[in-house]
Amino acid sequence: MPIHWFPGHMNATRQAIKDRVKAGLDVVIELLDARLPGSSANPLLAALTTGRPSLKVLNKQDLADPELTAQWLAHYNAQPHTRAIALDAGEKAPARLLIKACRELAPSRGGMDKPMRVLICGIPNVGKSTLINTLVGRKAAKTGDEPGITKTEQRIVLEDGFYLFDTPGMLWPRISIEQSGYHLAASGAIGRNAFDEEEVALELIAVLKRHYPQRLQERFGLAELGGEDEVLRAIGLKRGAKIKGGDVQMHKAAELLLVEYRQGLLGRITLETPQEMQAWRQAAADAEARKAAEAEAARLADKERRSGRRAASSGDA
Ligand code: G4P
Repeated sequence: MPIHWFPGHMNATRQAIKDRVKAGLDVVIELLDARLPGSSANPLLAALTTGRPSLKVLNKQDLADPELTAQWLAHYNAQPHTRAIALDAGEKAPARLLIKACRELAPSRGGMDKPMRVLICGIPNVGKSTLINTLVGRKAAKTGDEPGITKTEQRIVLEDGFYLFDTPGMLWPRISIEQSGYHLAASGAIGRNAFDEEEVALELIAVLKRHYPQRLQERFGLAELGGEDEVLRAIGLKRGAKIKGGDVQMHKAAELLLVEYRQGLLGRITLETPQEMQAWRQAAADAEARKAAEAEAARLADKERRSGRRAASSGDA
């Protein structure tokens, strides 16, 4: 899916993360969207912070399928130097679990002599500000949001000797897994002008038909589910998204479906499983390898053609 965007703050944030790693970093918290834990994980972050203990926080668990959240937690908890917890960013007691999990990941840190230095990262709109506000008990300024100032790191003291370094929400320049692009767009992480809402809605319908067909039928009062186009048209009809002459305005229908999904009105839905994500990642890596091999073959063929032409012209002379 083509996404037309400029991932704001990216270069400055990337540099801030590099600087933080150099200055000292004990735990990296990556805030993930529990509805799309694999797709909301930033591959750049993993590359920039390799070797550091990692806490995956699956936020917005109130909107996600509890059974799949348990699968994702088990998936991450099985990885070395990694812990995973699920949260609703607005709830204070569970948010404090994050402090406990960091202490477990870096038991030798803490106190004024050896303060715990924790970096918190996440894609835009994942709930990072909400979580930080819950943790500090007041509204903290959003990092990177001050007009005219590019402030890329903010230190927040959570407790004596426990520092949280906040970075602006960051996306990455190229999403190589097609499904991840759709899931990020459906979740609301990508600005609405950067993608085609109808295309994203059709993909969302395909996922819902596969995993949650009943929810789709119940929410929109559909007796049966046809192809994705038909379902979107039926949703438009049910919601009155019609143009003159009675035909359905598909773009409006798409918008309505996305809004209702994001608000959790279709119930608790997770768009991907760890196994699916693994298969997509592998397919994307295979496709990249194939593309690179084709480009290399074309380069060699071109080189051969040129040297053949050169040999022929020197033979003519
Ligand atoms: P960000 O800093 O990562 O960009 O995200 P932010 O905290 O601004 O949260 C983005 C939206 O997600 C907000 O909704 C926020 O209320 C919502 N949100 C955050 N955490 C959770 C959660 O655990 N569960 C649910 N259901 N929603 C969550 P908004 O409509 O954009 O703003 P608002 O009207 O709620 O302020």
